Amino acid sequence: MLDLWNHYPIIARKLETVNSLINQRLATQNNSVQDLLAACAQEQGKLLRPGLFLLFSQLGDRQQQDEQQLFKIAASLELLHRASLIHDDIIDDSPLRHGTITIQAKYGKDVAVYAGDLLFTVFFQILIETMNGTPYMEYNAASMKNLLLGELSQMHARFDKAQTIGEYLENIKGKTAALFKLACTEGAHFGHADKNTVALAARIGENIGISFQIFDDILDYDSTAKILKKPVLEDIGQGVYTSPLLFAVAEHPEKFTPYLDKKQNITPQEIKKVAKLVRNYGGLAQAKQLARTYTEKALSDIDQLPHSETTSKIRKIALVLLKRNF
Ligand code: IPE
Ligand code: IPE
Ligand code: MG
Ligand code: MG
Repeated sequence: MLDLWNHYPIIARKLETVNSLINQRLATQNNSVQDLLAACAQEQGKLLRPGLFLLFSQLGDRQQQDEQQLFKIAASLELLHRASLIHDDIIDDSPLRHGTITIQAKYGKDVAVYAGDLLFTVFFQILIETMNGTPYMEYNAASMKNLLLGELSQMHARFDKAQTIGEYLENIKGKTAALFKLACTEGAHFGHADKNTVALAARIGENIGISFQIFDDILDYDSTAKILKKPVLEDIGQGVYTSPLLFAVAEHPEKFTPYLDKKQNITPQEIKKVAKLVRNYGGLAQAKQLARTYTEKALSDIDQLPHSETTSKIRKIALVLLKRNF
């Protein structure tokens, strides 16, 4: 996890606390699922959403901050994220995440559904403890709904090679960017920043999130399972047609039709051929350009924030995510 936060020792230290808080909250649950909870606790992701939350909280007035409240909200964001990944791995029938066997592969899909649900319940508890009675309860519910709506429209668009880039962008705005937006907005708000900063944080978070997902979708074509610690070349066979493929298909639809018409019956060798076509017809290059566009939108809003050490850190993170290979 700390690869990303190595250069931010204060945030890295706070993230350790957030991780322990998550582990504590999970450990106090039912004894009969200790093994499974230990597996959940071991999850070592990049902690991007709580990290961004903590970074944005530094834009506020330190005097007014409640550190325990901030740790808890950071934990809530990570719990919502992890729960959605546990369920995502069930849907994708994925064997690997974070370089280790997934809960669904190890314990079965039924147990993995419960594990994800359990994380959601801890998420809800923390919301009640930290923001009950504020409009942020509603904001969390709406963000969670947007996440689901994005997943649903992605599901609806499966194997649709006529899907437009605009439709793809709408889906990822929901399934991924909604949570980044929530993280950055909550960071600014609960860090006691002014209203203008909170509004900018929302836009910055959303655009970083869109760029992040575009880039993650590129890595499915352009990286290895060893580096990503999750399977690659998964999206074609699952009918998740992301921007590299959509761009390349738009250039030469006839080259792709024989393969894509096979839908889920496409073979691993054919998937490799499609991936090669995607690269040869400029799909990866165009997708990278698209990701860059959203990072640039974020950067121009970041530049509207009063200049500080924190804003230059936010700037660096936005740029690192555009070049990441982790
Ligand atoms: C994975 O998110 C899901 C996407 C939105 C692509 P991350 O890549 O942030 O996952 P972890 O937290 O590091 O596991
Ligand atoms: C992750 O999307 C699901 C959420 C954003 C909730 P992906 O399906 O693209 O993520 P990976 O590739 O499995 O990490
Ligand atoms: Mg997936
Ligand atoms: Mg993916």
